[in-house]
Parts: sequence; C-alpha cells; structure tokens
Amino acid sequence: MKGTQRFTALSLIAQKRDGGELAVEAIRWLVPAYVSGEVTDYQMAAFAMAVVLRGMTPRETAALTLAMRDSGKLARLGKRGGPKVDKHSTGGVGDKVSICLAPLMAACGLRVPMISGRGLGHTGGTLDKLEAIPGFRVNLPLARFSRLVNTHGFSLIGQTADLAPADRKLYALRDVTGTVESIPLITASILSKKLAEDLDALVLDVKVGRGAFMKTLDDARALARSIVRVGTLAGVPTSAVLTRMDVPLGRTVGNALETAEAFEVLAGGGPDDLVECTLVLGAEMLRAGGVVKSDAAAQGLMRDAIASGRAAAKMEALVKAQGGDARVVREPDRLPRAPQRASVQAARSGFVQDLDALAVAQVALRLGAGRTRADQAIDPRVGVVLVKKPGERVERGETLAEIHAADSRSGRREAAALLAAFRVGAHKQNARALVIERIAR
Ligand code: URA
Repeated sequence: MKGTQRFTALSLIAQKRDGGELAVEAIRWLVPAYVSGEVTDYQMAAFAMAVVLRGMTPRETAALTLAMRDSGKLARLGKRGGPKVDKHSTGGVGDKVSICLAPLMAACGLRVPMISGRGLGHTGGTLDKLEAIPGFRVNLPLARFSRLVNTHGFSLIGQTADLAPADRKLYALRDVTGTVESIPLITASILSKKLAEDLDALVLDVKVGRGAFMKTLDDARALARSIVRVGTLAGVPTSAVLTRMDVPLGRTVGNALETAEAFEVLAGGGPDDLVECTLVLGAEMLRAGGVVKSDAAAQGLMRDAIASGRAAAKMEALVKAQGGDARVVREPDRLPRAPQRASVQAARSGFVQDLDALAVAQVALRLGAGRTRADQAIDPRVGVVLVKKPGERVERGETLAEIHAADSRSGRREAAALLAAFRVGAHKQNARALVIERIAR
C-alpha cells in the first residue's frame, strides 16, 4: 500500500513507549498488519502495554476504533424502518436488561441490532442467558441478523467471526498480557463492534461499583466520556448513563433464572431496580432515535408497549425466528431448572443493609453459572435467587436467598459464602439511587 512502507511494529512500539502520538496512517497500518500476522502477538502485546502506560489521544483512539471496525464486515440494515439504536452495558451482576430492553424498544418503533458477548469472570453475558432458552441460536451470519432486525425490529446474536476480527484477536491477547485495563483500548474494543452494527445512535450503560468492571466513579466517567467522544466523532451520536453496581440488579443471578426475570419485566412485573434500569435506558434510546422528544413521552410509550403485550409478542416472535421455544416467554417455568435448592437463612432479625454484588457473583460462578476461561462450559440452570434485598425487613430464620445448584453438595458448600454477602443490621438504610448521572456531548 502506497505510503505505508515506512511503518514497522518496532517503530510504533518505541514511539508509543516514549509518549509520542501516532499518526492516523500508522494505526491504519498496524491493525490489519496484526490481523494478517505480519505484526506478531509479542509485538502487539508490547504495543498494548505501551498504550496502557502512556495512553492515547482522542484522535489515536478514534483511529484505532475505526481501523478495528474496518478489519471485518459491517452490518447493512438500510434506511427503511425505524431508527437503529443499540445499548451496550459494560457488564454487571444480574444485568439482564438487554433481554427485556431490545424487544421493548422494537415494540416502540426502533430497530435494535444487538450483538452481545458472553460472560467472563464475575460478570454474566447476555448470550449465555439467551442460550438458556431451549433451541435459541445466537450464532447467525450477519446477513441473516440484518434480515431479522428488519423483520422483527431487533435481533440478539453473538460476535460473528467476520465482525471486528481485530478486536477478537487483540482482546484475547490483552486478556493474558495484563493489558485489559486501558480506557483507549476498552473504548476501541467496545466501539469497534458497536460501530459495525450500522447504528444511528448508541446508548451506553456504564456500571460503577464493586460488581462492575469500573470500580470508581472517576474511572467510569473517564470511560463514558471516552466512548461518547469517539462514538460521536465516528458519526454515531453516543450518550452514556452511569448506573450503580454495588448490589446485584434484580433478584436473580444465573442464566435461566435471569432470563425468566427479564421475561417478567415484559409481562409487566419484575423487580423495581431492573424495571427502572430498563426504562431509563429505554427512554435514552427512544430520545436518541428521535421517536420521542421527552422522557414523559418515552415512559408512556414503553408502559403501553408492555401493558398491551406488544413487547412480549416481539420477544416471542424473535425467539421462534432464532430457533428457540417461544413458549418460555409467557411460561418461564419451561426454562431449565436446577435439580437442587438450598436456602440461606438470616442469623438475626433486622434490615438488609447491604448485599455484595461481587460476592454473590462469585457464588454463582462457583455453582457453574459463569466461566473463568473463555472455553469453559456453563450450566444454564444454576444460580441464586435473592429473596431479600437492601432496605427490606428480615426475621431471624427467614430465607434471605435460595441457591439453585446442580447437586446438593455444591449448594451446601456455597450457603456460608452467600450468607456472608448479606449485611443485616438493626436500622433501615435507604437504598442509593440506581442512576448516578448522564454523560453526552
Ligand atoms: N468489553 C469489551 O468488549 N472490551 C474490553 O476491552 C473490555 C470490555
């Protein structure tokens, strides 16, 4: 390629190591050279570490994002149909919002081309939750995905082999070289996939707290600002909502349990915090897509889509179209269930004052609901039901939580760890607001 011969991996690594700003052309050379193997894994690992230590300017981050997006195919949804808006969550414990939000938005007139990920470590993944639905297929080619979005208003699939392959390769490398923790690299990783979805707008749910990827408000703000800036620079208006993730979202953690809870929201029920998170993000998406001008109008539209059954009907149609048993949407008891239950009882009377999301996630992980390595299998049936949450009264001996386990031994083994995740005290403490702030350009 004309004008690119002067770049070498070594010169780019050295320039970044010394704190320099790379030319856009240099980044445009680097990414395909890495995908093709011309730049080796060890060179890319050194480069990623230099970025972790030295950072990137917004211009460099935007160039990296676009080069990664352009390493693969792009969805083509066309202009006919509703505005195309997606939501991305940075991941939390009990976060099943995508499963109720996508059909709800489709029922309100948006097109939602949602390409999701799997769980790794303590955070769950939408794909694993969806795969709890018997027969549901998440591995579909981009062309079929696009047709589903245009027919049903949404589709929920996993990252295809040809979508942002540079991110797939680089993320696997970062995972084993201590280079995940970098705002520019996370920005490019998340956005390269989202910008391949042919969007008109993007809404980000940046989770903050001990159950989240971003533990502090400062880090969450920095990530949100970076993604909002780069997404918007790339031509997709992007906004972010920062939401608290110290306590699990909803009352379930574990794949089939969470999918059932998301269906409860579509049926007009569901726990308050999950409903609030869904409606806040939904209002943001409907405003971003230009479907409504005000929050009040968005709330009215969403409540009507739920009450009329249109949102649940959207989900049924999509589950069927993606090969799943659509009856689970209205009859979640048809989802796979764990054979063993163990209940965790309060050791004293009082109020639940705190519930540690990370500790709950680790229990679910050890029960088999999650994975610590990307190639590990998970058990869709297992997890935890949180009968009591912060702010609620509990009597000594009353059930705080229920463990759903594959066998009685693992259920009993996790009971003490789950009990330790709860703090029960004499006084009622008000729950902290779920939504922290909104960030937009
Ligand atoms: N999620 C991603 O997709 N990429 C990152 O780098 C971190 C979280």
